[in-house]
This record gives sequence, structure tokens and C-alpha cells, in this order.
Amino acid sequence: MPRAIYIHPSGERSEVEVPVGTSLMMAATGHGLDGIVGDCGGVMSCATCHVFVEPAFAGLLPPPADTEDQMLDYTAADRQPNSRLSCQIAMTDALDGITVRIADPQL
Ligand code: FES
Repeated sequence: MPRAIYIHPSGERSEVEVPVGTSLMMAATGHGLDGIVGDCGGVMSCATCHVFVEPAFAGLLPPPADTEDQMLDYTAADRQPNSRLSCQIAMTDALDGITVRIADPQL
């Protein structure tokens, strides 16, 4: 099963197996990882699942849809070029090892 690596604001890393098709937000909250809130359940209305995708993987992702792009303007931590909503990153085999830094704060 592909894995995702979450880097916490402290620098600690959490590695999680993520079923193909599952979002990185759902995987993180399902494993009780601190820092990804996911208040809206993944319908792009909260922006509390903000992550920074490591450059090696950012180019593997499709560009954000308009709604995601708009919500990224409302993140609590400043938006960066590699900002994404983790509820919109669905795991694929090609994304095995995807590494994201958890934005801080989320609220
Ligand atoms: S979980 Fe709410 S925008 Fe991603």
C-alpha cells in the first residue's frame, strides 16, 4: 500500500499507509495525527487541512481546481506556492512516499 509522510511543525515525521483513492486528510485524521483538522470533512469549506507538498511530489499532482485555489486564500498559515488542501490529494500508487509539511496554524 502506498505511504504518505507527514512532517509536523516540530520536525517529527509520521508515516502512514494510505489506501489508493483515500485523501491525505482522511488518512491523517483517521490515524489521529495532530495538525490536520479537516473540519468540513473534505468538502473544501474549511481550509483546516492545509499542507505544503514537498517539491519532488508537487509536480505529480494535478493543479488545484478553482474551488481549492480559492480556499487556499483563506488558510490560517500563509499560502505558499506548494500549498494544497490535503482533502483534495487522493492517494495513487504513483504518489507512494509523498511528503507533506503540515501547515501551522490551521485555525
Ligand atoms: S477538510 Fe475542509 S477544506 Fe479540506
